[in-house]
Amino acid sequence: MKRKSAKPGGRSINQHVRRKQKLKPSSRRWIERQLNDPYVQRAKREGMRSRAAYKLVEIDDKHGLLAPGKRVIDLGAAPGGWCQVAVERTGSTPEKPLVAAIDYLGMDPVPGVTILEMDFLDEDAPEKLMAALDGAPDIVLSDMAAPTVGHRKTDHMRTMYLVEVAAEFAMEVLRPGGHFLTKTFQGGTEKALLDRLKNHFAKVIHVKPDASRAESVELYLLAKGFKGRA
Ligand SMILES: C[S@@+](CC[C@H](N)C(=O)[O-])C[C@H]1O[C@@H](n2cnc3c(N)ncnc32)[C@H](O)[C@@H]1O
Repeated sequence: MKRKSAKPGGRSINQHVRRKQKLKPSSRRWIERQLNDPYVQRAKREGMRSRAAYKLVEIDDKHGLLAPGKRVIDLGAAPGGWCQVAVERTGSTPEKPLVAAIDYLGMDPVPGVTILEMDFLDEDAPEKLMAALDGAPDIVLSDMAAPTVGHRKTDHMRTMYLVEVAAEFAMEVLRPGGHFLTKTFQGGTEKALLDRLKNHFAKVIHVKPDASRAESVELYLLAKGFKGRA
């Protein structure tokens, strides 16, 4: 049978896990999805730590957030794909780090990134993040997602809480003109939070990059042009 080539990967699609292996159907589906996912293949080929990296690449290519010399805070950073993109596009170096990242999961060092291994919801996390940067951030990124417990409404609410805390943090620390990008869910962002963001930023939009799986309710909320604190 003729195999179609995968885009943007280059490896063939429709690979299957051999039946001999004893796997739960859900595990089998997950592995097959990974094997056939062009972004997973591209990440492997290009040395990126996550397929999620391409979501930021796409959003940044279209909306121009990252630039040389900009300071970045990355919330929920492990395994570090977004950090890699931020370092490359800001020109951050170990001598002059421009990127500060936080995750309660450990991650391998990324040269040019100051990594905090702690919960962003800890009281002293904001202060520690700010101390890791030599000045106010130009961009606050959040790809945080709460660990799922399998109860859809609970999972949804826990991630939406992270969105709210990240948004409040961004509005507290961003440099005027700065940007805030966060993962959210379709239909998930509270009107009150959207209104608050619209008051504080020049433009607020939802974006769904191609690298975000079509079947996923995941969506990104982008607030551009922080107007500054009153
Ligand atoms: C989708 S992953 C991030 C992927 C990352 N953007 C990348 O490109 O590699 C979400 C991350 O958010 C982290 N996270 C969730 N809640 C958090 C919290 N309260 N504090 C810190 N990290 C959190 C998780 O541990 C997980 O590593």
